[in-house]
Amino acid sequence: MRSVDGDATLRTAAREALARAYAPYSGFRVGAALRGVDGSVVTGCNVENASFGATICAERAAVAAAVGRGVQAFDALYLVTEAEEPTPPCGICRQVLVEFGPALVIVSWTCGGAEARWTLDELLPHPFTPGSLGRK
Ligand code: THU
Repeated sequence: MRSVDGDATLRTAAREALARAYAPYSGFRVGAALRGVDGSVVTGCNVENASFGATICAERAAVAAAVGRGVQAFDALYLVTEAEEPTPPCGICRQVLVEFGPALVIVSWTCGGAEARWTLDELLPHPFTPGSLGRK
C-alpha cells in the first residue's frame, strides 16, 4: 500500500467536497475523497433530505460516484468535517465500504486540525462481505 501521509491532493479534494455539502438540517458538513488503486480521486459530500432518512452520507456518495466511473478498488479514504474531533464513517458507510475491501486506510481530520486514522477492518471487524454469500 502506498503511503497516505501528506497527500495534499486528497485533502484538497475532500475540503472542496465539504464546501459542496448539502446539510441544511444538521449543519454537519462532510467531505470525502476516495483514492482508487489506479490513482484516481473521486469525491462525495453528504446530501440531506427533508425526509431525513433519505440522507446520503459523503462516503457513500463518493463510493457511488467512483463505481459510476468504473473504479471499484480503493486504497484510501480521506474525510473532513468541522466537528471538534475526527469522525469515523457511520455503520452504514462502513458496510458499503467493506464491499470493496477491508484494508482501506481512512484518514479523518477536522478543520481545526485534529486527525485520526484507522483501517476499515479495525472499524468493522467480522464484516458481512461478498464472500459471506458463499459465491466467492
Ligand atoms: N454523515 C456523513 O456524511 N458521513 C458519516 O459517516 C456520518 C454522518 C452525515 C449525514 C448527515 O448529513 C450528517 O452527517 C449528520 O449525521
